[in-house]
Amino acid sequence: MAKDVIIACDFAGAEECFAFLDRFAEEKPFVKIGMELFYAEGPAIVREIKRRGHRIFLDLKLHDIPNTVQKAMKVLSGLDADIVNLHAAGGSNMMKAALAGLTRPDGSRPLLIAVTQLTSTDQQLMEEELLIERPLDEVVMSYAANAAAAGLDGVVCSPLEAGKVHARCGEGFVTVTPGVRFAGGDAGDQKRVTTPARARELGSDYIVVGRAITGAADPVAAYRQCVKEFLG
Ligand code: C5P
Repeated sequence: MAKDVIIACDFAGAEECFAFLDRFAEEKPFVKIGMELFYAEGPAIVREIKRRGHRIFLDLKLHDIPNTVQKAMKVLSGLDADIVNLHAAGGSNMMKAALAGLTRPDGSRPLLIAVTQLTSTDQQLMEEELLIERPLDEVVMSYAANAAAAGLDGVVCSPLEAGKVHARCGEGFVTVTPGVRFAGGDAGDQKRVTTPARARELGSDYIVVGRAITGAADPVAAYRQCVKEFLG
């Protein structure tokens, strides 16, 4: 299993993003492009970052009827991202359709991972608005199992859940984990945070790190520190 640090490039536009990436003269970090940057700049931003030699996690969290998701995934597959994602709440048929859409004529495809429940969803919201009355961690694990059964490659989850996900869905089932901070760093709006070293102990495959790197006085040094702690 490849393990790596993914930098969340949560920037408003291309100029800011490239100014950040230009600071990395020696390494080509794996980057995450989310909705803000993608909606601002379109597919061109993915092509350009790829052309510069970075691997890309395209975090667009698709969720629609199977036919629509299949066609959208076919388009995303042409952008040559390395990881793409969707909401497991769309159901098994949607996840299978996504895999079909993503698979290129030569059989290759990006990794496809699922969001189980967003970390902004808590037990109260689930019960009162979604009318789901089971415990949140049971729902998360069940959605992860659905994703594995549909043939997906992994899930986005907390490093604190990585071990449980591997136990339920297999060691090869990829865990991509945000919510990472350096010891003593500012947690910001993340409720449950873990250091890169702890994420490694807990079995995360990829850690997604945004502000602890992008907001650092020296982002390259912060990235190197993260890699050192996570990969050893
Ligand atoms: O700045 P920070 O390290 O908190 O950024 C984490 C990144 O991971 C953000 O892009 C955020 O949207 C994303 N993310 C998350 N929690 C999830 C899913 C995605 O923080 N459950």
